[in-house]
Amino acid sequence: MKKRTKYFKSLKFRIMVILIILGILPGIVVMGMVIQTYEKKAFDLRIGSIEDECGVLCNLLIKENYMNNSSSQAANSKLELLSDIYGGRILVVDRNYQIIQDTYHTDLGKVLISPEVLRCFKEGSSRYTRHEHTITLAFPVMSPEVQQPQGAMLMMISAGEIEDTVADLEQKGILIIGIIAVVSILLGFILSTILVKPFARVTRAIEDLTDGYQNEEISVPDYRETELITDAFNKLLNRMKVLDDSRQEFVSNVSHELKTPMTSMKVLADSLVGQEGIPEELYQEFLRDITAEIDRENKIITDLLTLVKMDKKAADINIQHMDINQLLEDILKRLRPIADKQKIVLILDSFRPVEADVDEVKFTSAISNLVENGIKYNVDEGWVRVTLDADHKYFYVTVADSGMGIPEDSLERIFERFYRVDKSHSREIGGTGLGLSITRSTIAMHHGAITVFSKEGEGTTFSVRIPLSYIP
Ligand SMILES: Nc1ncnc2c1ncn2[C@@H]1O[C@H](COP(=O)(O)OP(=O)(O)OP(=O)(O)O)[C@@H](O)[C@H]1O
Ligand SMILES: [Mg+2]
Repeated sequence: MKKRTKYFKSLKFRIMVILIILGILPGIVVMGMVIQTYEKKAFDLRIGSIEDECGVLCNLLIKENYMNNSSSQAANSKLELLSDIYGGRILVVDRNYQIIQDTYHTDLGKVLISPEVLRCFKEGSSRYTRHEHTITLAFPVMSPEVQQPQGAMLMMISAGEIEDTVADLEQKGILIIGIIAVVSILLGFILSTILVKPFARVTRAIEDLTDGYQNEEISVPDYRETELITDAFNKLLNRMKVLDDSRQEFVSNVSHELKTPMTSMKVLADSLVGQEGIPEELYQEFLRDITAEIDRENKIITDLLTLVKMDKKAADINIQHMDINQLLEDILKRLRPIADKQKIVLILDSFRPVEADVDEVKFTSAISNLVENGIKYNVDEGWVRVTLDADHKYFYVTVADSGMGIPEDSLERIFERFYRVDKSHSREIGGTGLGLSITRSTIAMHHGAITVFSKEGEGTTFSVRIPLSYIP
């Protein structure tokens, strides 16, 4: 059942139906019109010839003064002849609706008030009606001088002959339409199969690709439509390839990053295990190094978990209306001891009081990451300057430093997970390359944006823009 409804919904079925309708419908219409025109013409001809005959007969009746004396031999034989020719019955009635002649001789002397006669008397002209299989025609009997009918002739003739021809025509018409229908169905089937084929080809091409992402693209240029579909599909395929590559790179980066502290710990522990009589201070030093490596491993895992959590789209974000000036002051206060160690000055420039909807914890960690980078990748006795400004819609935070700067070809990549400009240098400074990636995700969660401007040897400026009010 399901399969059948699916076939009814298919493009092929619809094209077929349209072609069949286009084939049969005009046939039915033309046939109907031809038959109707024939029928009308045939009736008009028949009535016309009867009226002619009646006219001649009427003159005879007037001449013979038939209305007063219906025994005229000439008139009566003419009446009989006419009723024989048309295979019908003729009655003659006078002004009192009395039948003075009946070619069937059954109703003589009776009174006949038929609608045709009534109207014929009233309008002084001939009238006919068609009922079942008979045509009834009333013809006034009057002399050209007197415009008042003296009586009427009522003819009842069979319409069977015309009706038989019409029925015959109808039968032939149905046969022709039947033939057209069969041809249309065949043609519709063949044409729809041909027309729909390219779409089946698209499906097959996509199915052929489903065993893994091969490096090929599909192409079905038969129609513009199929070309658009395959183009869109190729775009999707490329995106998936990129995603797949970045996932693989991410996994290998994670493994590598997690292994490095492990390797250091193993080397440190091995050198302690392999030797005897090691001085107490050396033990202390190695164990301190091992603890540092454990801390490092811990930070990587915490950062990774933060990122994974943020990837889960509707990660719970805890929005509150906050004083942003206060938040920035708190961040700088917390980082000042680290900056002092490198003799770096932290400056906060606020242009106006700003209140906005942010997640306190996430916003703080995002800005802290930027300021920490400003301190870490700075020169001795340098500075990090944080500014805050706002308009009616957004607030803007910039974090600028007097540090080493970022080479132009790295600028695009610093927001990638694990990306660090100079691996060896960064290692000695300490970092995993996840900070900016977390920062960017956090700002995106606030529906904001982050951009970076940097010049090697001069410094770097990160600009953050976040809407004042959060719309979920
Ligand atoms: N202010 C800056 N000046 C110069 N280079 C920077 C600056 N900020 C970031 N970078 C470069 O971008 C890289 C990525 O920064 P990110 O904060 O993501 O990682 P990280 O600081 O190395 O490690 P993490 O923040 O995870 O501890 C850094 O390794 C550094 O090379
Ligand atoms: Mg960082």
